[in-house]
Amino acid sequence: MSIELLNQKKGPEISKYIYGQFSEHLGHGIYGSLYVGKDSEIPNVNGMRSDVVDALKEIHVPVLRWPGGLFADTYHWRDGIGPKDTRKKIVNTNWGDITEDNSFGTHEYFELLRQLGADAYINANIGSGTVQEMAEWVEYMTMAGESPMSKLRQKNGRQDPWKLKFFGIGNESWGGGGNMRPEYYSDVYRQYQTFLPQYDKDHPIYKVACGPNQDDYNWTETVMKYAGKYLDGISLHYYTLPTGDWDHSKGDAVDFPEDQWVSTMTRAEHMDELITKHATIMDHYDPDHKVDLIVDEWGTWYDVTKGTNPGFLQQQNTVRDALAAAITLNIFQKHADRIYMANIAQMVNVLQAMILTKGDQMIKTPTYYVFDMYQKHMDAELVEGIGEIPDNVTYTASQKDGKLTISLGNYDLANEKAIDFTASNPFRKIIDATILTGKEMNSHNTFTHPEEVVPQAFSGGSIQNGRLHVQLPTKSVVSITLE
Ligand code: AHR
Repeated sequence: MSIELLNQKKGPEISKYIYGQFSEHLGHGIYGSLYVGKDSEIPNVNGMRSDVVDALKEIHVPVLRWPGGLFADTYHWRDGIGPKDTRKKIVNTNWGDITEDNSFGTHEYFELLRQLGADAYINANIGSGTVQEMAEWVEYMTMAGESPMSKLRQKNGRQDPWKLKFFGIGNESWGGGGNMRPEYYSDVYRQYQTFLPQYDKDHPIYKVACGPNQDDYNWTETVMKYAGKYLDGISLHYYTLPTGDWDHSKGDAVDFPEDQWVSTMTRAEHMDELITKHATIMDHYDPDHKVDLIVDEWGTWYDVTKGTNPGFLQQQNTVRDALAAAITLNIFQKHADRIYMANIAQMVNVLQAMILTKGDQMIKTPTYYVFDMYQKHMDAELVEGIGEIPDNVTYTASQKDGKLTISLGNYDLANEKAIDFTASNPFRKIIDATILTGKEMNSHNTFTHPEEVVPQAFSGGSIQNGRLHVQLPTKSVVSITLE
């Protein structure tokens, strides 16, 4: 089977923000993993854990969503500023009823972003907060001149404002964020965004409205109809559960049967239908594509690791997750004309994480390596292809700086797959080719065997008469860059 890549046709730019991340005050998603505090014995810079930050810098995290998730709608930003010993201790009622000491707050978040080189995406509290609280938080973060909140920020040690790139107004407002109806939410959104101050006229804050839960097309329709002209992006949340069952077992992260491998792939592929249908509704209200679709929560969701706090959502990450990530990222790239940002849930220790930590140890997951391999697609131009692809194969292609990168996944457990690619001019040489795979479908990295699943040089690609031939091993993700 072969694909003709239409690399002379101008494609949309693949936003680097598609490779965004999400960190919530949830389990060990922040505390002990990203933030250990200045006095920790674990090496850190200003409290941020150095080994984890260094690993994340390698994948160039473009944006980090914070502080939730569900937590965002219970978060009162004033609790997280000022001297640490005076910060209010609260109960994290969403995630395990544990004490939240607020030692990671606004200043710490922006310090983490500084170290990562990432942009800010803050989710406001509209569930249990007020319009004034939101407006003052934005004033605190972004007001350059003299004002009550800028003076408070300066008193707390930060002279200059920070750059707030993205701002979410509501999280899952259809559920844990307030159980609102879309009509009511649309009005609440309109009200909040009215009072969102834009102090930096040259860099207006990008406004994200709460969008649908997976296939709730009525939510998208209603919000676009009543609030569509007041927003820059509308979010979509969709998680991949092998069993599809939220109320009982979602499936084990490691000890899963083959049929759960298959259902995970099928459910990951479902993202394509969801985006297509939500985007069709958006086309009706926004034919000029001024509004983006933002998938600010996605990823696999399994039963928690046995023996861990059920409220911490800690799960292992295997070759299956690598394939699910490749499928999803390929879908996002295919829809690059509408998808401007996506945020995998979540960056460290929670759900489909990049990194797992235990005490002072850390490991990179197979999903981390997919994000690493896909970096060449960031801000590249999407290249469309025509032709037939083998069953259980996913691919995407893009070009940047005169080089073309093709990333593929073969999620067939039994058969390797062959596929050819041609482009408008003959391929001359393979510059780089990498594969991520494992011996078993549930191969994964552990603290004792941290390098069970790591990228390797790939030798299954060859050029004959200007045509690229790829022989894809089973359960593998491959990325090839060519001239
Ligand atoms: O990512 C975990 C949770 O999933 C988030 O807090 C919430 O928004 C979603 O239901």
